[in-house]
Amino acid sequence: MQAWKDYQEKNKDRFLEELFELLRIPSVSAKSEHKKDMLQCAELVKKRLLDAGADTVNIYPTDGHPIVYGEKIIDPKKPTVLVYGHYDVQPAEPLELWKTPPFEPTVIDGKIFARGSCDDKGQFYMHVKALEILVQTNSLNNNIKFCIEGEEEIGSPHLGKFVADHKELLKADCVLISDSAMISLETPSLDVGLRGLSYIEVEVTGPNRDLHSGVYGGAVANPITILAKMIASLHDENNHITIPGFYDDVLESTPAERELMAKAPFDEEAFKADLGIKELWGENGYTTHERTGVRPTLELNGIWGGYTGEGAKTVLPSKAYAKISARLVPNQKSDKIAEMLIQHMEKIAPANVTVKATLHHGGEPYLTPLNSTAYQAASKAVETTLGKVPIPVRGGGSIPICALFEKELGIKIVFMGFGLDSDNLHSPNEKFNMANFYKGIETIPYFHKYFTEMM
Ligand code: BES
Ligand code: MN
Ligand code: MN
Repeated sequence: MQAWKDYQEKNKDRFLEELFELLRIPSVSAKSEHKKDMLQCAELVKKRLLDAGADTVNIYPTDGHPIVYGEKIIDPKKPTVLVYGHYDVQPAEPLELWKTPPFEPTVIDGKIFARGSCDDKGQFYMHVKALEILVQTNSLNNNIKFCIEGEEEIGSPHLGKFVADHKELLKADCVLISDSAMISLETPSLDVGLRGLSYIEVEVTGPNRDLHSGVYGGAVANPITILAKMIASLHDENNHITIPGFYDDVLESTPAERELMAKAPFDEEAFKADLGIKELWGENGYTTHERTGVRPTLELNGIWGGYTGEGAKTVLPSKAYAKISARLVPNQKSDKIAEMLIQHMEKIAPANVTVKATLHHGGEPYLTPLNSTAYQAASKAVETTLGKVPIPVRGGGSIPICALFEKELGIKIVFMGFGLDSDNLHSPNEKFNMANFYKGIETIPYFHKYFTEMM
């Protein structure tokens, strides 16, 4: 569609400047000091949706951060696409590792550096601009709804209730999400699944107070040593997870699926060089893509205890802590695995310490059927604008609400991510390539067109 291209070409500098304005708001959902920024960001999203041509946009307060809902209904009888995204971002820390200020978007070599540039402001904003293009060129032929939340990065604690309470409002024929990655513009891919998550925190207590490590050391178990041993025992020599029952519900990939996965290009040397590591690590018997896509994992997100300040303090600490999470694959269940993790940590603790384990947020894994209309439309849209049929791959990250959307609304979710794995999501120097931003805006109208034609 030449009209879409022309419209984008004429307005592309403004599109970018508008995105920058969103990126300048530090909408960090995890920190209460940013509550005002969250509201301001929600207001700006609302304004932008209205400017783009939505007929109605409302901000729904929750017990946490607000949800922005907007819609453009041209005819209730026509197909409806529900676009989901999130305007909240991860904390920018550690700030000293940023080469440019995290909330002052800066373009270097065609890349937009800013917290949230890729995850997810830059990506959901592609959908807002695609709506504008469709409206302005009089070519919108379906209904589009937007649900842009402010708590994805903290596990979407209030979105589930909102979805359950607003089924009629959110009623649609598919959910479209740009909040993941593709291999590259040259080798396009589409995520056909995301992993789930179970997250716990453990507190290991030894003596009832911190002790002089000379007076007591050697006679009393050090909770840090004990915790370290417990953690080390969670993987065996093949890097399999040792928790009994952990793999019970894992849906094993068929040889045909593994063959398809092997088609996605992978440059091991470039991968290692980018990360500054000499050797890869992972579950024996699986490729890197399988390890991050179709296999569950167990990760230590943080470990602390004792004295970590300046200088050396000789102390035998009373407590040690760790934050432990598991990435899940179909058909593992988040609650079941979390409970399993908690019980296992309590069970393997020796008698010289006590273990208290608590639950953080989680989410279920999700799989998009390749034969679904939504996937077919996304594949054709990407083929149209990037010139190649995208390779279906599994994304390693999690979007907790996906499984719930399917359960509550009875519709499929399709992922059309335009980020790259190397975009430094959640890390310092997060970026989003300008070319990917513009390609995304170019591709999305085709999704609506094809989805509507195929329905
Ligand atoms: N956009 C990511 C999820 C993602 C990243 C999917 C890369 C596929 C590829 C999302 O914002 C995210 O970070 N999710 C969290 C989940 C959480 C905080 C419950 C995650 O995956 O850790
Ligand atoms: Mn995201
Ligand atoms: Mn994220």
